[in-house]
Amino acid sequence: MDLVLSGGRVIDTSGELFDRAADVRIVDGRIAEIGTGLVGSRTLDVRGLVVSAGLVDLHVHLREPGQEYKEDLQTGTRAAVAGGFTTVCCMPNTSPVNDDRSITELIVRRAAEVGACRVRPIGAVTRGLEGKQLADIADMQQGGAVAISDDGKPVWNAGLLRRALEYARTFGIPLVQHAEEPELVEGGAMNEGAVATRIGLRGQPSITETSMVARDLELVEWTGARYHVAHVSAARTVALVRDAKRRGLPVTCEVTPHHLTLTDLACQHYDPATKVMPPLRTDADLTALYEALADGTIDAIATDHAPHSLVEKEVEFECAAPGMLGLETAVPLVFALVRRGLITMTRAIQLLTIGPARAFALDAGRLVAGGVADVCVLDPERHWTVEATGLASRSKNTPFLGAAMQGRAVLTFVGGKVAYDLDHRLESP
Ligand code: DOR
Repeated sequence: MDLVLSGGRVIDTSGELFDRAADVRIVDGRIAEIGTGLVGSRTLDVRGLVVSAGLVDLHVHLREPGQEYKEDLQTGTRAAVAGGFTTVCCMPNTSPVNDDRSITELIVRRAAEVGACRVRPIGAVTRGLEGKQLADIADMQQGGAVAISDDGKPVWNAGLLRRALEYARTFGIPLVQHAEEPELVEGGAMNEGAVATRIGLRGQPSITETSMVARDLELVEWTGARYHVAHVSAARTVALVRDAKRRGLPVTCEVTPHHLTLTDLACQHYDPATKVMPPLRTDADLTALYEALADGTIDAIATDHAPHSLVEKEVEFECAAPGMLGLETAVPLVFALVRRGLITMTRAIQLLTIGPARAFALDAGRLVAGGVADVCVLDPERHWTVEATGLASRSKNTPFLGAAMQGRAVLTFVGGKVAYDLDHRLESP
């Protein structure tokens, strides 16, 4: 392939900020040149569109092995490229759990066979996610794990967390904490507050998250290990992370598009699609998250793409499995923040590319001449409606079904190959 993407708004935040109208030439899987007046054997006019490094998602659930009725490596990565993502890191709460090198390698191998994008597995911290015995962290890292996490559950035992952090440090990978103090959850299915009281659902307070992060930071200081807070939801959590960063601790964090968009008010009609862990919080929390996005406290926007089938979701709110889809709606939800003036377009791109790549030390998230051509083309003006039939994911659990969106990925290249082409513009010769 020798293709010129011509006249787009090219944004790269991996070095000195690049943000201007330019051409990007892709030849044989690599970015050959970025400049003006470039010539290739084929030219695609992308004026009015944003051209960026392929997006990087630190937090997805692809459900393979074992829960393919919800999602698998093929459908999940198709959803990824439809959302503009070219690298996704998949959580270990599969069946069996990815707590062993053989599973890590299986995921790497299967993803190479059937995946539409790059898949980087995250290994479990503890065997079976049971919080009792450490998994073989070194072995999984050698098999391709880029981080460790018991996501879906916290690593709450302080002694075990200390050991896990020491291993993570030795092997140079971050530990990703799902911060949720079990003793404070008390069966809460949504945020504890006025809305939960009004609709009669048991809530869980944001100290569930903040108390665990506060405790963990002591252990991070003690061990010097890299620590990443998954799906931050509460104002006080970003304050703790901000302070830890100021003190020079090796701490990073991510926030999801849904925690930036919805509050607990979205749960008031008992729609199980709005049930997520951590739960949707309050306006005050969202305001603090916006500040933390803008001031650099938050390193990445990660989707926590969590597919579930009808059987798990079309039940009473309290019984429903927590989680919602994220890959195919991330771009419009983040672009909505840009339109509201909460972050700039370049910061949005940074939070979806080099920000996450740096947090996990992934070789991704750069749009530079000579680099691998993982590229996405995003249309900030595109209006569309989220429809179940239009989603590539096998599951359809999103509260945004029927919602009008603005902004969409229209073209995604992985290693220079077309992985997604919404308008079929590159199909005909
Ligand atoms: O809402 C969630 N769903 N939060 C998690 O941490 C786990 C995830 C899942 O696996 O469904």
